[in-house]
Amino acid sequence: SPFPWHLWKEEMSTRMLGPRLQRVFKNYQAANKYRVPPEAGTRRGGARQMGLELLCQLKARLTVRTLHPGEGPFAAPEWRGILPERDLAEELGPLQTCAVVSSAGSLQKSGLGKEIDAHDAVLRFNAAPTIGYEHDVGSKTTVRLVNSQLMASKEQHFLDNPLYDSGVLVAWDPAPYAADLQEWYRSPDYPIFTQFRARRAQHPHQAAHILHPQLEWELWELIQENAAEAIQRNPPSSGLLGTVLMLSLCPLVHVYEYLPSRRQTDLCHYYEHFQDAACTLGAYHPLLFEKNLVRRMNRGLDADVFQHGRVTLPGLSTLNC
Ligand code: C5P
Repeated sequence: SPFPWHLWKEEMSTRMLGPRLQRVFKNYQAANKYRVPPEAGTRRGGARQMGLELLCQLKARLTVRTLHPGEGPFAAPEWRGILPERDLAEELGPLQTCAVVSSAGSLQKSGLGKEIDAHDAVLRFNAAPTIGYEHDVGSKTTVRLVNSQLMASKEQHFLDNPLYDSGVLVAWDPAPYAADLQEWYRSPDYPIFTQFRARRAQHPHQAAHILHPQLEWELWELIQENAAEAIQRNPPSSGLLGTVLMLSLCPLVHVYEYLPSRRQTDLCHYYEHFQDAACTLGAYHPLLFEKNLVRRMNRGLDADVFQHGRVTLPGLSTLNC
C-alpha cells in the first residue's frame, strides 16, 4: 500500500493520496448531489478543535436519534406499527462498554474477536458477517447499521438473508441537505422506506429503527468546519454515523480498524477479496476527514491504534462540557 499507517499519526490531507484517488476526490468535491449551499460548514472555518473540545462540539450540536412513530410522513396508515415505540436506548438497556467494528480488510488476522465480544454491545455495518470470522471480529452483534443501497440491492437479499437476523437493525439513507422528513420521504437515495416496511413484515419480532437524517448533515458540517480543505459534499460514512450513534448510547466506546493499524491493507472488507484503497481513504464519503476527526478525539494511545486498530472514546453522557 502506498499509504503507510504512520501518516495517520498526523492530519491526513488529499495531497497524500495517489493520483487516482485525488481525481476521484476532485470529482466528488465538484459534484453537489445533495445541494449543499456554499456557506455550509464555513461557520467556524479555520478554528479546528482538538480532543475533548471536539467531543463537546459533537455533544452540543448533533441530533442522534431514530424516527418516532407518527412523525411527519410516518403518520400515514401504511406506517402503523412499523416504527418502534421504544427508542434505541430503551431497547438496549443500560450499557457500559460498546465496540464499533469497521469492516476493514485489516481486521484479518487481528485476533480481536474475544476483546470485541467482551463489550456490552457490538455494532457492525452492512453485510459484515461474523460466522467464519469469529477469531478476528467476534460473534456478538447488538446493533447492525445498514445503508439503503444495501437494503435495495438484489444480491444482498436484505429481506431474507439470515445475516441480518441478529441484533437491532438501524437503517439510514442520504437525505438532501437540510431536507425535512417530507422532502426526504419523497426522494430518498435508495428505496429505504419500502424495503424497511418489507423487512418489518417478514421479521415482525426483530427490532428495527430508521436513523433520523438530520444527523448526516450536522455531522458533515462538523467535519467540514474542522477540515483544512473543502471536503466531498456527501454524507459521512456508516463508520462515523455508527460511532456517533454508540457515543450517544455508551459511556465508553472502542472503535476497531477505523483508524488503520499496522495491518493496513488495500483489501476493502475482511469478508471479501475486493481491493481498493478508497475503502480506507474515501471516495464518495469524506472518509479522510472523518478519520482526522476521530484521530483528534481518540483518548487512547497511538500504540493501541498501531497494534490493535483500537480507538478509545468517552461517551457523550460522560462529558462535562
Ligand atoms: O463498506 P462499509 O460501509 O460497509 O463499511 C463500514 C464502515 O467501515 C465504512 O463506512 C467505513 O467507515 C469503515 N471502513 C473503513 N475502511 C475500510 C472499510 C470500511 O474505514 N477498508
